[in-house]
Amino acid sequence: MATTPRATAAQATSTRILTTNHHLIRWVEKMAELTQPAAIHWIDGSEEENDYLCRQLVEAGTFTKLNEELWPGCYYARSSPNDVARVEDRTFICSLSKDNAGPTNNWEDPYVMRKKLKSLFRGSMRGRTMYVLPYSMGPIGSPMSQIGVQLTDSAYAVVNMRIMARIGAPVFAEIDKDVKRVVPCMHSVGAPLAAGQVDVAWPQNDTKYIVHFPETREIWSYGSGYGGNALLGKKCFALRIASNIARDEGWMAEHMLILGVESPTGEKTYVAAAFPSACGKTNFAMMIPPKSFKGWKVWTVGDDIAWIKPDKTGQLRAINPEAGFFGVAPGTSAKTNPNAMKTLSRNTIFTNVALTPEGGVWWEGMTEEPPAECTDWMGQRWTPEIGRATGKPAAHPNGRFTSPVAQCPSMDMEAWESPDGVPISAFLFGGRRASAIPLVFQAFNWSSGVYLGATMGSETTAAAGGALGKVRRDPMAMLPFCGYHMGDYFRHWLRMQRDLSTTPRVFHVNWFLKDEDGNFLWPGYSENMRVLKWIVDRVRGQSQGKETPIGWTPHFEDMDWSGLAMSREEFDRLLKVDRAAWRKEVMGHEELFLLLHDHLPAEMIYERELLICRL
Ligand code: OXD
Ligand code: MN
Repeated sequence: MATTPRATAAQATSTRILTTNHHLIRWVEKMAELTQPAAIHWIDGSEEENDYLCRQLVEAGTFTKLNEELWPGCYYARSSPNDVARVEDRTFICSLSKDNAGPTNNWEDPYVMRKKLKSLFRGSMRGRTMYVLPYSMGPIGSPMSQIGVQLTDSAYAVVNMRIMARIGAPVFAEIDKDVKRVVPCMHSVGAPLAAGQVDVAWPQNDTKYIVHFPETREIWSYGSGYGGNALLGKKCFALRIASNIARDEGWMAEHMLILGVESPTGEKTYVAAAFPSACGKTNFAMMIPPKSFKGWKVWTVGDDIAWIKPDKTGQLRAINPEAGFFGVAPGTSAKTNPNAMKTLSRNTIFTNVALTPEGGVWWEGMTEEPPAECTDWMGQRWTPEIGRATGKPAAHPNGRFTSPVAQCPSMDMEAWESPDGVPISAFLFGGRRASAIPLVFQAFNWSSGVYLGATMGSETTAAAGGALGKVRRDPMAMLPFCGYHMGDYFRHWLRMQRDLSTTPRVFHVNWFLKDEDGNFLWPGYSENMRVLKWIVDRVRGQSQGKETPIGWTPHFEDMDWSGLAMSREEFDRLLKVDRAAWRKEVMGHEELFLLLHDHLPAEMIYERELLICRL
């Protein structure tokens, strides 16, 4: 299909084909033949183009421009109630063999799935513009970066991706060098418009498919305009497809934040941490140490995804492939995460939070006092009284902010865009566990560390759905994101050590221990710095540990308690290794291992046996 000329001067520039890559041009033509858009817009990524798209979104009713004085450069969107989160049950890994997808992924025969997708995408962009959106995950030109091109009929996806990734003309220039394989990403909201049909503010389709073809490195997403379903660089590419590329090429694509701890003498230690969704990764990545930690700083490199590769000397180095934060808004406040509040104060897109009468945003937990009145994420009038009477929050629990990382005051400006990444000295695993799992412990070695990550679990919250308080095993926080068999993924982790000159130390943390009355035993947030400092001390060989059956824990004296009243008894409770509870815990590990048995590395069985013996 030929590129359709457009009406205005502002639009005219964007219809130009912005690449010389014939494969890309031919693919765009083929996909346009299939989806039948009314126009094609090649995204150059410029400010003018972004302004134009935002204006269009305002006209379409998708965006509300927020009060420029209070929220400069910010927009507000409300999605359809049928399109508010990632759809794990509609997410597929269509490898050639079902066995390669493994029991933790949905699978369909790729031949059958392609037929299905072709029929869904046929004519799916009618009446809409198809945007050709090139993006780089990681700094453009970095040897650790990867390139994708997303064809999408959602301007909302384009303007969000402009924050989340590097996009536009410089990426086309990179594609034209023809040195990197490009991952094709098809995206349609699945809501074609007939001639004269009036559009809705949030087009979507109740039928949703988020599909990955690992062998051909393709992504096809249909029916959703929201978050991870639509911003295809994030979970679909940077985790599900990238985990496949990483396994083949000898690196790691992980659901991890990256942060650097700077000591008063200026030494920086970088760690990467995997916590399941909704366990406070963004808060931890942007932590401000307690006042008593004079001279200590925490620097943010990333809050969600890490690509990690051994360098020539065998040191693991990590980049954050993203350029934005797609953070959960509810619960974010000047108390819980002041750096996030500063980050999102401008040039941010808010989705599914509440809109205040003065053209601002609000969500549960943002301030102690809710606004006297606002419009909720469903577009209904909301007051605290209505909230109390109906039990309905003003913001959806998965309401989000999309903000540029460069606006974050704790961003490690020297390092976060370094093409070589930052050196990783430790991996942290963690989950939400009310009992049994101590505040912190260190694995004995790499293989027991892999076991720790493989068996980590988290209690389900109301936001995550499912039975409340039930432990869901979420290996390395990758359960919804590993693009191949989980047993093979453990093997890949074990193998990674072979290329390393220094092996990162592995730790497990748990901020969520509770007493019998349901009160948290650990204050969390800034106070997590105390645990982080012990971890850094261990990595640097500056702290003794206490050997327990599950690993090394700190002695009371090993941790810095300045500015926090913590008794020895309270500490012992936080660090207690309850052998009976751990024997039960091992039974939970066994359940996961049974599921993965035919691909499970023998090392995992040995580690479990060793753990049982020590217990
Ligand atoms: C996320 C998630 O949105 O993990 O980052 O669900
Ligand atoms: Mn995540």
